[in-house]
Amino acid sequence: MANLWRGVLHEYADRLDVTEKTPIITLGEGGTPLIEAPALSKRTGARVWVKFEGMNPTGSFKDRGMTMAISKAVEAGAKAVICASTGNTSASAAAYAAHAGITAAVLVPEGKIAMGKLSQAVVHDGSLIQIQGNFDDCLDIARELAEHYPVHLVNSVNNDRIEGQKTAAFEIVDVLGDAPDFHYIPVGNAGNYTAYTRGYTEALGHGDSTTLPRMFGFSAAGSAPIVTGQVVKNPETIASAIRIGNPASWELALAAREATNGYFGAIEDAKILEAQKILAAEVGIFVEPASAISVAGLLERADAGQVPAGSRIVLTVTGHGLKDPQWALRAADGSDITPTVVKAETTEVASVLGLAKAGA
Ligand code: F0G
Repeated sequence: MANLWRGVLHEYADRLDVTEKTPIITLGEGGTPLIEAPALSKRTGARVWVKFEGMNPTGSFKDRGMTMAISKAVEAGAKAVICASTGNTSASAAAYAAHAGITAAVLVPEGKIAMGKLSQAVVHDGSLIQIQGNFDDCLDIARELAEHYPVHLVNSVNNDRIEGQKTAAFEIVDVLGDAPDFHYIPVGNAGNYTAYTRGYTEALGHGDSTTLPRMFGFSAAGSAPIVTGQVVKNPETIASAIRIGNPASWELALAAREATNGYFGAIEDAKILEAQKILAAEVGIFVEPASAISVAGLLERADAGQVPAGSRIVLTVTGHGLKDPQWALRAADGSDITPTVVKAETTEVASVLGLAKAGA
């Protein structure tokens, strides 16, 4: 059992506010693969790696922040936590609360979260409430409840979440031996953008790396308040995880962009789906649409001539494709993809596959 990964609170205890009084609530999160992507390097002229956060216990990067937030909540005596969510935070909160033996209440926008995520909150016994509104409405209510009732807020406005999430940057520096030149990441509330910036900054201060990556964050075009500089009242995108019109970490994200000479961009839904397909078909990684925006952003910047040749680039893909598989079964023209049906006969299958018999 040598070298078994023990979860981010154990692995990075020296970089987090964890003491002997902290009950460590872990499902073994973190330690996710950093996968080199020759197909994306070839398309862009850079050297590209993908940090596959779908490999976390509940299938998204949220687990890094949730192990910290739930551990600190239990340390503080909390018996119940609450969050607003587009699906992944609620899945993670419900799972970690279940492990800790406390209650999780989760508020989600009605009819707007992926089926896989909804099923996670239910199976982990979260108190799931669908709100007739969008994510921003859910977050307003969660904050008010946490202020006036005995429930502990575990959205990324809770700094413990950002602290846990910064460990992904530590892992990247550990694996590459230095920070990359650029880091590409999806943006919803901009909590993760903020967390990576903090992680890379601390790694630099600690002498583990020699450079601070330029942080490039991408939102869906119908839901890109940081790009337009305006709250979006009715955000729309097929990338339901990042359908957010008023990001909680807006100010922190602007400061992070400033500090890293970063960039925020917006991507059309069609390009997000195209990138999801490219990543799956050419690299072998299946991610949900919100995560594919990192890839779409890279391809867009490369088209714009903004990707320096040979630069080292890490893309975070935040959630697993199996959480929201419906988009993968759609062709680019919007029609359904139905696999061919053939009689149970070898010659017929060979003929449909276009195979000629060996030696024939
Ligand atoms: N990618 C995925 C798969 C997400 O679920 C989220 C956020 C993001 C990216 C954006 O991260 O908010 O830190 O900028 N999901 C939240 C949730 C809002 O409720 O699951 P961010």
